[in-house]
Amino acid sequence: MSSARTMFTLLAGALLACGATRAQDTPTDQDVVRRAIHVCASCHGEEGRSKTPAIPSLAGQKRDYLIAQLKDFRSQTRAEAGTRAYMWGISALLDNPTIFGLSEYYAVQAPAPGHSGTPSLIAIGRKIYTDGISDRGVRACASCHGDSAEGTAGFPRLAGQHATYLHAQLKSFGSKLRPHGVVMQVETSFLKPSEMRAVAEYLQSL
Ligand code: HEC
Ligand code: HEC
Repeated sequence: MSSARTMFTLLAGALLACGATRAQDTPTDQDVVRRAIHVCASCHGEEGRSKTPAIPSLAGQKRDYLIAQLKDFRSQTRAEAGTRAYMWGISALLDNPTIFGLSEYYAVQAPAPGHSGTPSLIAIGRKIYTDGISDRGVRACASCHGDSAEGTAGFPRLAGQHATYLHAQLKSFGSKLRPHGVVMQVETSFLKPSEMRAVAEYLQSL
């Protein structure tokens, strides 16, 4: 991962360069989106399939979820450490049409393939994901995120996502750093740390 400052400069350069040609060539918004994607790829991977455990894949993610996250970064509402370090600066440069174009692009890319992990953890995670833990009031994750964690209209895709990233998010919901994750604050409040790890390992394997 290059430094956030370098990325910020690169993206600013890419968008400015586009603005500069706009006067002569009147490029469509697609040109702006294409240049931005080039910068995103340096961290999020080719077509949004990330190879870095702390950086989420974007390929196949739900469009409306992506739009909401990019706007939450831009308004500095979503505030985990990784987000503050990288996505605040980058999203500050994105206008609404570019956010929309980027989200449409990533939503239709082929998702990253899953990675198998520790079978015993995966088995525990699968049970939590599918059935919840009824005596502690943990609902089945599948009821919102879909049977195969492919995501549903209002809820993000989780299948094949890096366990490191997922685990970090599950922990961060309790810290109110994702205020629009109020639903998840409730869902994670009764999960033990070991169960968060297990469910993240299961989701990465899909
Ligand atoms: C310098 C590296 C870097 C660059 C460049 C970068 N990102 Fe990110 N992005 C991150 C990191 C790190 C996270 C995870 C933050 C966290 O841990 O909360 C992230 C998170 C995200 C998320 C949240 C995903 C989710 O599942 O909630 C979206 C959406 C996103 N980035 C979109 C983009 C787009 C679009 C671009 C290009 C305009 C971009 N990023 C460029 C590092 C980067
Ligand atoms: C009642 C619906 C609901 C249930 C049940 C639910 N979720 Fe979520 N989940 C959401 C919503 C809504 C979001 C988006 C939050 C946001 O916008 O910040 C989300 C986001 C997430 C994210 C962040 C994804 C990312 O890319 O950053 C993870 C991880 C997650 N959920 C895991 C789980 C797990 C594991 C369970 C089961 C223990 C679960 N969810 C149960 C609604 C739900």
